Order: sequence, then C-alpha cells, then structure tokens
Amino acid sequence: MNAYVGTPTSRVDGRAKVTGAAKYAGEFTAEGLVHGFVVEATIPRGRIVRLDTGEALKVAGVLDVLTHTNRPSLADKDEAWKDEVAPEGSPFRPLYDDLIRFNGQPIALVVAEEWETAKFAATLVRIDYEQDGFATDLEAERGSAREMDKPHEPRGDAKAALAAAPLRHEADYLIPTEHHNPMELYATTTVWESDGKLTVYDKTQGVQNVQKFLCGVFDKKPEEIRVLSPYVGGAFGSGLRPQYQVVLATLAALALKRSVRVVLTRQQMYGLGYRPMTIEHVALGARPDGTLDAVSHEAIAVTSRYEDFSRNDTGWAEQLYKSPNSHFSHKLVDLDVSTPCDMRAPGAATGVLALECAMDELAVALKLDPIELRLKCYSDRDQSEDLPYTSKQLRECYARGAEAFGWARRAPAPRSMRDGKELIGWGMATGVWEALQMPVAVRIVLTANGHAEVSCAASDIGTGTYTIVAQVAADALGLPIENISVRLADSTLPQAPVEGGSWMAASSAHAVLGAAEDIRQELARLAKAMPGSPLANLDAADVTLVDGMIASDGKDGAAVSIADVMRHSKLERIEKEKLNQFTEDKSHARNTHSAVFAEVKVDEELGVIRVTRVVSAVAAGRILNTKTGRSQIMGSVVWGIGMALHEETMMDHRFGRIMNANIAEYHIPVNADIHDIDVIFVDEPDSRINRMGIKGLGEIGIVGVPAAIANAVYHATGKRIRRFPITLDKLL
Ligand code: MOS
Repeated sequence: MNAYVGTPTSRVDGRAKVTGAAKYAGEFTAEGLVHGFVVEATIPRGRIVRLDTGEALKVAGVLDVLTHTNRPSLADKDEAWKDEVAPEGSPFRPLYDDLIRFNGQPIALVVAEEWETAKFAATLVRIDYEQDGFATDLEAERGSAREMDKPHEPRGDAKAALAAAPLRHEADYLIPTEHHNPMELYATTTVWESDGKLTVYDKTQGVQNVQKFLCGVFDKKPEEIRVLSPYVGGAFGSGLRPQYQVVLATLAALALKRSVRVVLTRQQMYGLGYRPMTIEHVALGARPDGTLDAVSHEAIAVTSRYEDFSRNDTGWAEQLYKSPNSHFSHKLVDLDVSTPCDMRAPGAATGVLALECAMDELAVALKLDPIELRLKCYSDRDQSEDLPYTSKQLRECYARGAEAFGWARRAPAPRSMRDGKELIGWGMATGVWEALQMPVAVRIVLTANGHAEVSCAASDIGTGTYTIVAQVAADALGLPIENISVRLADSTLPQAPVEGGSWMAASSAHAVLGAAEDIRQELARLAKAMPGSPLANLDAADVTLVDGMIASDGKDGAAVSIADVMRHSKLERIEKEKLNQFTEDKSHARNTHSAVFAEVKVDEELGVIRVTRVVSAVAAGRILNTKTGRSQIMGSVVWGIGMALHEETMMDHRFGRIMNANIAEYHIPVNADIHDIDVIFVDEPDSRINRMGIKGLGEIGIVGVPAAIANAVYHATGKRIRRFPITLDKLL
C-alpha cells in the first residue's frame, strides 16, 4: 500500500523550520553559557615562537585564553583523531602544538561571558612566528604531482590509439578551489551537565561519528558524551567530518567546567571545508562516425601535507562511454593548506565537468549533434567493470530532456541564435553518480493509541530525511502520516553513518521497512491468538497493516483493529529495532544518471551571462517524494550554476592566504541569477538494487550542470572557456 511513498508529501519539519521552532547547533543555550572566539594563524607554514595572551586576559568578562601551552589534554595517537570518513594521513588537531600547517589555522580560543567580548579580546592576542618556506599554488607545483591510489588498469593502449585516431580532442580544464557556504555557520554548543557529562549540539552530518571522535580525542566513555544535531542548515559535505570548532567548544567546556558555544564567522569558515582545485586533462580519440577509439583522463588535485584527500574524478569516463582503449590517472600535489573536504558529488562534479566539456568539443570537431555523439558511445554495461546495471534509463533521460527543452530546434552553429542584443546558447551534458547503501538501524515504537515513533541517529541535512522516513513508516504501518513522529540525529538513537553520498534514503527506508515488518509479524501473532479472531486461520504472511487495521490480504475482508489487539493483549507499546544489513551484490553496477540541458543568454557587448533555462532529466530509481526530490535537484542545479559562472576561492600565493573569504567577494548564485528550472524524473523501475527500488537523489543533481552551461556558452559565443568559473571578462 503506497498512500505516501511516491507522492509530493510536504516536509513534516517544514513548519518548525519556517516558524523558527527548529533549533540549530548554535542556538541551544544552557545556564551560565559562555562563548569562545577563535584566533587564527596569519602565516601558512611555520612555528609559533611567542604567544602572549596577557592583554586579552585583562579584558573584563574574559575567562580564559586556551592555547597549545595551557589546554587540557588531547589524544596523541592519530587513530584517536580519525573519524569514520577521515582520509589517509594524520588528522589536524587544533591547539595541539606550535606548528602552523595552514593559514587560518586556529591557534587560540578566547572564552568570555559575551561573544562580543571574546571577539574583541581575540584581537589582543600577540603572536610571533618563525615562518618557513611554503607552497600554495597548484599550477606552479604541478610538476611535483604524485600518483595517488593504485593506478587504474588501463584498457588496451590509449596512447597508440589516440595517436592513430582520425579525430582527436585534448585539453586541460581548470576547476578552482570552491568553499562551502552553507547558511548555517560551523557551530557547536557543548553543555556541561551537572553530573559532568557533556551534551554536544553540533552542526554535523553524523552525530555518532562526532560522538566516537570526541570520545577518542578526550578519552571519554560513550555514556559521557551525547551528540545531537536535530536540524542542519545545509552541509553537503562540510559536516561529514568533525570540524575543529566541536573540539574547541568541548575543550573549553572541560577546561572551565562550563557550557561553551563556539560559532565560526563566515570568514573563519574559509579555513577549512573546500572542494580542491583540480587540473583535469582529457583526451578523446574518435572515428568520423563518432565512435570512440580512446579515452584518457588525468586529474591533478590539491591535498594538504598531512592528509591524502582524493575522490573519484577520472572513473566516470571509464564507466560511461564505450571505448576499446582507455587510460586514467589521479595525482595529488601536497600544499601548505588545510585538507580539502567533500562537496556535493565530490569527484564527479569536477571530473564529469571536464569530461562533458571535452565530449562537446569532440562533437563540434565531428560536426555531430552532442546527443548523437553520446548515443554513439552509449553503453548498457559499466565499461570499467564490464557489468550490467541494475537499471540505466539514461537513453530515456536524453529523450525526455531533449523533448522538454525543445533541443530539436537548436541551430548547430555557434553564434547562430540570438534575442536582440543577447546571443543565445543551448548546451547539454550527461550526469552520473553512484547509488550507494549503508547499514542503518531504526527503532519503531507503536503505542496503543495508534501512534508510532520512528527513531534513528541519522541526520537530516535539509534533504528531507524526516519526511521520507515518516512516509515509508506510515505506509508500512498503515497509519496516517500525522500519527508518525520521527526522531533523528541524537547519538543515543539506533546506529547510522554520516548522512552523505546520497545513500540515506535507500538505507533508512529499508531499515524502517524492516522494523515495521517485525511489528506487523508481532501484531499478526497477537491478532491470531485473540479468541474468535477472524484472522485465526491465516498465516502471518497473509496480513497487511492498513488504515489502523490488521487485515487479511484475501477477499474475505477479515480484519481486526490494531487498537483492539493491543488492548486485548494488555500491551501499551510494541517496540522493534532493526538494523538493515544489505549485502553488496557485485554482479551489477549501481548508478544514477541524468541529462542536463541549459540555455544561456549572453550580452554581446558586456559579456554578462544569464542561465535562462535548465532542464534536468534524472533517472534515479523510485522517487520517494516527488516534491522534496524536485527541491533536491533544483538546489543542485543552482549550485551547478555557481560552479559554472561564480564560485572561485582566490588565494594570494605570495602570502598563502585566501583573498575573498566572504560572500561579498566569493560569489554564489542569488535569486536574481536563477530563472526557469525544470526537473523531470524518468521512470526507472529497479527490482534488483533493493526491495523498494530506491537509488537516492541529491548529488546526481549537480553533476553535468556546469558542463551543460559551459557548452551553452560556447554555442552562444563561439568561445570555449576551460578555466572555471566562466566570468564575463573571459568572454570579452
Ligand atoms: Mo555529501 S558531499 O556526501 O554530503
């Protein structure tokens, strides 16, 4: 019975969010709460030789200034600092020692009665450094790139095939560093409870990840630290790893035995949390008919000197398009910067941007329609593993998207379409992402009044987890959605990993289904045992929960109300917890796909670019909620517009310091930049991927968007911009 799943159900947490009832990490308060303000390093590499906190401590209202010299103890071993998504290496530890590893590194925390006092006193902390030589420029350090991971197995001989190909396209695409700018700042309120235990409200995508991390760092027992994050104001990768403010707030709480809040400023957020700059080199060799002979994709990305952060930039071409010869490599350059972090569709957002621009350039060289070229190399099997897909409706995405966009009316030559002073460009690109699942446990408590509480430690980072969990539970328990309450993001609740990778919908939905199934079994058993039960002769497998009843699946109409069964059994509540362990099926590839179409209008005299239309046709299995799902894709499209035209972290490499650490100079799209966005969900039944056919949404929405826009800009202007973002100066 699907009363809710698949429908445009409104967010169950919508009212709390728009009325301000929803509380975020930096809004929780406690008796005697005090505030910490971070002092940051102003050099990229070196050592602190003197740190004078005397003046700061004299300010009325300042309670303490914590530094590496006077802090409470922190774990020494790397292992204690490794959270569940930490990359290889030795994680950063705030206030650990006198070493400076990146500009903007926290080196002191001023704690005061008032935030303003702490902020002022922070300006009085005097620091002398011994500066070392440093490097922050990826392009300048390109020569020191080292091979990451085990190299991909090449297919055939790409080098020879490229040399022999009748048509070739080869180019570098540069994608700059991009910083996370969620609405909610990095924030933690650590509450010092009367028994000395800590309750930590943190802006995070994984409360249990943060809880385990804090227990390791501060050598605490699990029952001594509880972490909550009931609402998250955008995260999308920035909250996957515990950020340093959660360490500082907790460190200060332990030092002062008081409740402490640390909220970073927008500027301070640029000290961490970014998509690493990449240089993507793509080479394609083709025959005149558009079939590919060779694909080569090499990526060079930034990482810090202390951790190896890398994501799959180059695997997408390997998987997506048919080519007998292929070569892939991924290299890292160690720089004096903080470790990069995940940002919406990490790896794919960048790698596919380069790939899909290159495919467009190849289509131009071949005088083929861009969709035609992609259909020529279309593969029904994952090329890298030579596996079939659980489902792949990408062909349908191309067709439905093209139709909705009106692609057939496109005049192929650049600069051939215009609207008054504006040149019109139409471009398209393919999107691809993974369909992942993780172990998640859910507890359902059904009470005799016909209400169910569903709980799980998973976060809802704004993507709609509260709502889909309620929808799936309501359907599985046969109750109206109003009778379902959902509790999330508390480390004491049943097990969940970080919410990321677009894996939470499939993972949580099946855990809900599992727990509801156990409740159904229990109710069926009790119902059969009631004297004179109309279900007495039925198997537990033959009854369904519907409309508050335990009902026979057959035509006999036999049913007993849940309330009657519980009353008769003298039960106030039935509680079931289920861990959804899925088994990874290695026989099939699992991916989501999209076809993105973009229209740009470019002012010929001023170079101003407007993205006037985007059509995104997405194939992502069963869509649990067409309303929140559409919002997911729209949000991602907006971010894709930012990637194409606006976002760029600029660094002054003479000082190894970011120049535009604010949203006045780091541009993200605003409402006036956004015009028509049309989201199409292509039907994609998938009975193999999991019981409900769910693949997960969100990240697929950004992949392909910046390439479609870049390709549209080329079509409008005849100018191919390979250094992102495409700002107007590059068109003049
Ligand atoms: Mo996502 S970048 O896994 O929040």
